[in-house]
Amino acid sequence: MSALIIDTDPGIDDAYAIACACASPEVDLLGVTTVFGNVGLPLTTRNALRILALYGREDVPVAAGADRPLAFPHPHRAPEVHGADGLSGMAGSLPERSRGLEVVDAVTLMARLLTEADSPVTLVPIGPLTNIALLLAAHPSLKPKIERIVVMGGALTGGNVTAAAEFNTWSDPEAARRVLVEEDVPTVLVPLDLTHRCAIGPEWLDALAASGERGAALVGLTSVYREHYREAFGSDQTVLHDAVAMAEAISPGILRTTALPLEVDCGQGPGRGMVVADRRSAAVREVTTGAVGPRTVEVALDADLDAVRAFLLT
Ligand code: BDR
Ligand code: CA
Repeated sequence: MSALIIDTDPGIDDAYAIACACASPEVDLLGVTTVFGNVGLPLTTRNALRILALYGREDVPVAAGADRPLAFPHPHRAPEVHGADGLSGMAGSLPERSRGLEVVDAVTLMARLLTEADSPVTLVPIGPLTNIALLLAAHPSLKPKIERIVVMGGALTGGNVTAAAEFNTWSDPEAARRVLVEEDVPTVLVPLDLTHRCAIGPEWLDALAASGERGAALVGLTSVYREHYREAFGSDQTVLHDAVAMAEAISPGILRTTALPLEVDCGQGPGRGMVVADRRSAAVREVTTGAVGPRTVEVALDADLDAVRAFLLT
């Protein structure tokens, strides 16, 4: 059984990730926190509540977090990928949850859940890392309660929102740097390099739609996203980035990882938000920079792709 807290900006692939956690008997879903990202915070928060309502999850506390990045606010969201409401214009098709938001903010809720947990908890940030950076800064004594952080973000070989950077790390590079470079909590990074390889086709979506009302409702949220990827790839393949990270959070080891020291570009140039992995040997690194044994992050770069697709369908 994995105890999870999801930090999210729904977002269509976020919806699939949350659904996967709700549907898994392996998951003890302690809470969901929301962050700005694919759309603004009020919409990501409403969408998170409605996705939980679709799964009848009145028991899961939800709290809203950051509505902007730590250091350099910017207006860029991703309506061209997720629709103006974050769910292909279909958020209104989902049920409303009777239980509303917690009266506390995301960081306070995460801190409370970690404090109360009797075994270590996995954090699953699938949006900008702002809330997680704030949590680690405000509550360093709770770090031992975090088993690991499974992050969807970054790209080692080319971005999506810019040529260099992936959307989540680009949305708040200073927060991403705190989580991936400065802190020392065990972390898995699931970058675009792998999520793109786990793309699913129309037959996968058809199978999900045929699986029942919830599956059909999820597929009904996907039209704008599918159209975006059709234009991006010139095919009918769709990339459920956040759900791939969720597979690893629920089933540790389903993705194959490599321990790599990382940097995040926090400059204001074309590399802003880019994740740089140091693939040099420790010996070369020591000779060239003097750095010995920097912190590493487990970067998911490989997997049995069909096993991941099958896992996400169950
Ligand atoms: C990430 O950016 C968002 O658009 C998705 O929800 C995912 O978290 C992929 O780059
Ligand atoms: Ca997301």
